[in-house]
Amino acid sequence: MSSEAPGLHNLGYVQRYERILAENLPPSFAQFADFFAGTQRLHTLAAMFDRHLKSKDLHVLNVGSGPFATEIFIEAMQGQMITALDYTPEFAPFYTLFQQDGHLKTTRFLQADIMTQEFAPASFDLIILHDILYEKALDMNAVITRLGTYLKPGGLVFLDFVNLRTGWVWTMLGKPNRFRRYDPRNVRRFLEQAGFDVIDWRPTHGSKSISARTLHATLRLFGASNNYAVLARYKGR
Ligand SMILES: C[S@@+](CC[C@H](N)C(=O)[O-])C[C@H]1O[C@@H](n2cnc3c(N)ncnc32)[C@H](O)[C@@H]1O
Repeated sequence: MSSEAPGLHNLGYVQRYERILAENLPPSFAQFADFFAGTQRLHTLAAMFDRHLKSKDLHVLNVGSGPFATEIFIEAMQGQMITALDYTPEFAPFYTLFQQDGHLKTTRFLQADIMTQEFAPASFDLIILHDILYEKALDMNAVITRLGTYLKPGGLVFLDFVNLRTGWVWTMLGKPNRFRRYDPRNVRRFLEQAGFDVIDWRPTHGSKSISARTLHATLRLFGASNNYAVLARYKGR
């Protein structure tokens, strides 16, 4: 357990993790070393799993795993049977590189697109969609409907999303609106209709940059958050 935040793990490895990324990412991906090594971005995920995930040997699907920060730095992921999936070829080599350092022992990796990859029905106890549903090409409802088939009844889905209702702040600040956004009320409604019980719902503000953190703090003064994280249990349809 770390003193930085509940549920983080292996923080002594962060520096080496960042160096391995920096030395092996192609130049056009260089900024991602600092981004993925910023463990602030994992705080909400870590805290929610720390609170709700008490079992071991769970079958976990980590969708859009990137360079495996979740698998390495989240305490609740240690000892789980993880399928990490990502379609970006630039992240694939890190599977072997981090395994060579003794990590990812219970993780298998698939380089694949989540919208076409098939699994046996009811394969997973937990599906993680961390920092992926901002993608304009992904529609949350389509992704969850598709992945629900692969969740066991009683299984959990974690997702986070960017708030549609704070989009005006970005427009006002003249920032490009690069993210797909969702109305929190519609997310709740959709999850209920799709057979999920929401068991935890939190604002997230785990950015490394001071300007982003200031903006998030200002939004909180107005009772809003730019991002939310959700953990929901699948009851089955
Ligand atoms: C910001 S990264 C987040 C990585 C990881 N979840 C984390 O939080 O450290 C988003 C990842 O989603 C992946 N991704 C986006 N769309 C995808 C898709 N359709 N299938 C598989 N991976 C996808 C991208 O390649 C990228 O690695």
